[in-house]
Amino acid sequence: MANCQLSGNLRHIAGFLLAPTVPIMVGHSWGFAMRPQFLLTDPGHFNVSYCINPWMAPEAWNAGAARAARAGSGALCAAIREAGGEVHLLPAVEGLPDLVFPANAAVVLDGTVLAARFLHPQRQGEEAIFRAAFEDLRARGLVDEIVELPDGVIQEGAGDAIWDQTRGHFWIGHGQRSTASSIAVIEQVFDQPGVALELASPRFYHLDTCFCPLAGGRLLYYPPAFTPAALAAIHAQVQPADRIVASDEDAAAFSVNAVNIGEVIIMARPPENLRARLAAHGYRVVPIDLDPFILSGGGAYCMTLRLDRAGGAGRMRRVG
Ligand code: ARG
Repeated sequence: MANCQLSGNLRHIAGFLLAPTVPIMVGHSWGFAMRPQFLLTDPGHFNVSYCINPWMAPEAWNAGAARAARAGSGALCAAIREAGGEVHLLPAVEGLPDLVFPANAAVVLDGTVLAARFLHPQRQGEEAIFRAAFEDLRARGLVDEIVELPDGVIQEGAGDAIWDQTRGHFWIGHGQRSTASSIAVIEQVFDQPGVALELASPRFYHLDTCFCPLAGGRLLYYPPAFTPAALAAIHAQVQPADRIVASDEDAAAFSVNAVNIGEVIIMARPPENLRARLAAHGYRVVPIDLDPFILSGGGAYCMTLRLDRAGGAGRMRRVG
């Protein structure tokens, strides 16, 4: 939207006054910054009862998994708060188990919410619930406006459109869930450039399962999930020293699907080797047992939706 930058700035001024802030060091003096804002969903009605991706295992679901899901979701909330984030919790809805993955509900930047449209009928009932949640967030001053996708465009939210804070553009996944037609829509709605990344494998059906930009410009990613053209696009933007390559084991542990706040990376329990490699780059991994959510094909990132990302200067620039 043409005025999204202005409204985003106004929202940040409002956010500064309304939302809890954290003291930060700015040069040699103290200032205040808005806490990172996250939407999560209560896992009370989460289960695995259908199969819309190759990880989903309804036969493995039981009461123990339901208990572990509550514990895992609670631990994720606690880790986000511990890292300085603020959590807004959406109530669970019976019959919509994948509501626990709000990353798929929308793309959010500069206060603008582009509401998602799901490919699979099993998840389409979530659209109205999330729409109402965004209206509520708007009434509370946490977002400014809610935008609808054009007819026929499938777009599964921040799972397939990841804002790169360092480079100032979206990375846009398509080819599995979201349609290629979503790329131009995202660029136009947010007035920001996007780099299209076609996904090559049904196992890595959302971009966030195989791609995680990190604070400071590094990238954790799983190369086999991408087409050759997508890999070339990644390598054109991210220099070799900034690439952290996930192994088959890292990707299968859903560790790439991570929440990054500053030097903290919250992720489903990673192999020790990945943890050590990230530590060598200065990141501190907070591992969480998210096994019940992996039974649905999801990890830490897709259990959250970041609400406060700000884009900066718009698309006068071109990427690539
Ligand atoms: N069962 C969900 C689905 O297949 C999992 C979604 C996980 N979300 C994500 N952004 N990776 O849609």
